[in-house]
Amino acid sequence: MKLTVIGTGYVGAVHAACMAEIGHTVLGVDINPDRVDLLNRAKAPMHEPGLDELLTRTVASGRLRFTTSLAQAARFAGLHFICVGTPQQPDSPAADVRYVDAAVEGMAPDLRPGSLVVGKSTVPVGTAARLAARLRQVAPQAEIAWNPEFLREGSAVRDTLWPERLVVGVSSARAEAVLRDVYAPMLRGGVPFFCTDPSTAELVKVAANSFLATKISFINAMAEVCDAAGADVTTLAQAIGEDSRIGHPFLQPGLGFGGSCFPKDIRAFAARAEELGAGKAVAFLHEVDEINTRQRRRTVDLARALVGGSFADRNVGVLGAAFKPDSDDVRDSPALAVADAVRAEGAEVRVHDPAALDNAQAAFPELKYTSVVPEACDGADLVLHLTPWREYAEIDPALLARVVRRPLLVDARNTLDVQAWQQAGWCVRALGRPGLNGAHRHATGTGPYDGLIGVSLESDPCM
Ligand code: NAD
Ligand code: UDX
Repeated sequence: MKLTVIGTGYVGAVHAACMAEIGHTVLGVDINPDRVDLLNRAKAPMHEPGLDELLTRTVASGRLRFTTSLAQAARFAGLHFICVGTPQQPDSPAADVRYVDAAVEGMAPDLRPGSLVVGKSTVPVGTAARLAARLRQVAPQAEIAWNPEFLREGSAVRDTLWPERLVVGVSSARAEAVLRDVYAPMLRGGVPFFCTDPSTAELVKVAANSFLATKISFINAMAEVCDAAGADVTTLAQAIGEDSRIGHPFLQPGLGFGGSCFPKDIRAFAARAEELGAGKAVAFLHEVDEINTRQRRRTVDLARALVGGSFADRNVGVLGAAFKPDSDDVRDSPALAVADAVRAEGAEVRVHDPAALDNAQAAFPELKYTSVVPEACDGADLVLHLTPWREYAEIDPALLARVVRRPLLVDARNTLDVQAWQQAGWCVRALGRPGLNGAHRHATGTGPYDGLIGVSLESDPCM
């Protein structure tokens, strides 16, 4: 089939390449000419495992190319996937759907009769219905459907070629048939296919993200209780995760969620539910958001306490800038939020990341960056492990201990082998694990960490 993909960011570039990989002829469109140029040279505009190889193959096959012209795209095919961004509005928790609207408006005058415009962007429920009404005025023979995207950055190619489910929201049997055709290779592989109305499809997406974000905030709330009670959240997470009704995924306690999806999607969902008069039903999402951002503040508080109550004249080495490993995406990165807060309080901060340094530099130019781990930690009073890249789990703690001023580590992602670091002479601390290094809970609740990490300064060997 011939199809277009409008917007070639983290979702669209992968979708376009994967659609070409399964045999379709694809024209990708972006308003960013540099991105289009890169993609036409088969270069991935972002760090996404497997994407470069896929682009090389599909661009060379002649089945994939890119343009900046929406009019050309509208005339190229009868099927269009919209993958443009829907960020949070600057002054409101709601989603900014102006790019979706602009893409549809931009194509409308040139759409072929009978075209199917399929939204993949994450949108407030009701967007498809609103766009369908608009198309009835400007392109009466075109139709809207919604097909939300569930890929994760870092495994986007695999998630697209081997999805766990496909959800399409359609208003006609013809639209369903077209989408079944497009995804035929996946359907032959037995992928569950949910065909529903557009509003349900839109809601499936935000409901899934809200559930996952809630699971993460739940375990981080337990970390706060563990701090107060002298318990260990990592053992708690493993033990409750063994219950097959709960499961292990998305129970990793730590610095919390960031990125371009969870934070803005739960806020936009709450805002949209409020508009619909169902705000109370999802009021808990405000708490999910608050628990999540509190983990960032608590991490900064823990770090400050560990360096003696003030960051002035302190060197802090930071491991990780991306919002998650295997991605160069720094949008709403918890790691950079913490690093910059520590810098703003007077510390000299050097940040390492295997892939996200350029994006991090553009977003937080006042931080210092290096692509060499020992350089980030050279002379450090404290090392913060903020993004759980696999290569940080492979660090030799004995070697790193030689370059720091004090072997003091906050494992804010709970993915390092604490025992190995301790055996190499490091003092390791983490939220929700007040017993690390044998520190004791402060029985009276009057210590300097009171309400923060639940241990007394005097009994803490890291101090
Ligand atoms: P992105 O910001 O990486 O990419 C969006 C692209 O759209 C940019 O390259 C931009 O230049 C382009 N664009 C904007 N307006 C355009 C227009 N009128 N015509 C053509 N191109 C235009 O965004 P993303 O991360 O790929 O997310 C896209 C959508 O998918 C969002 O709604 C997001 O919530 C959703 N989503 C994202 C992910 C993810 O992991 N990033 C996963 C699932 C769903
Ligand atoms: C998410 C959804 O998983 C995906 O289905 C949707 O399409 C887009 O949003 P993504 O943002 O790429 O994907 O990454 P994900 O792996 O979900 O992680 C999101 C954030 O949560 C990261 O900052 C990650 O570090 C954090 N996280 C994840 C935790 O803190 N604990 C966990 O147990 C899991």
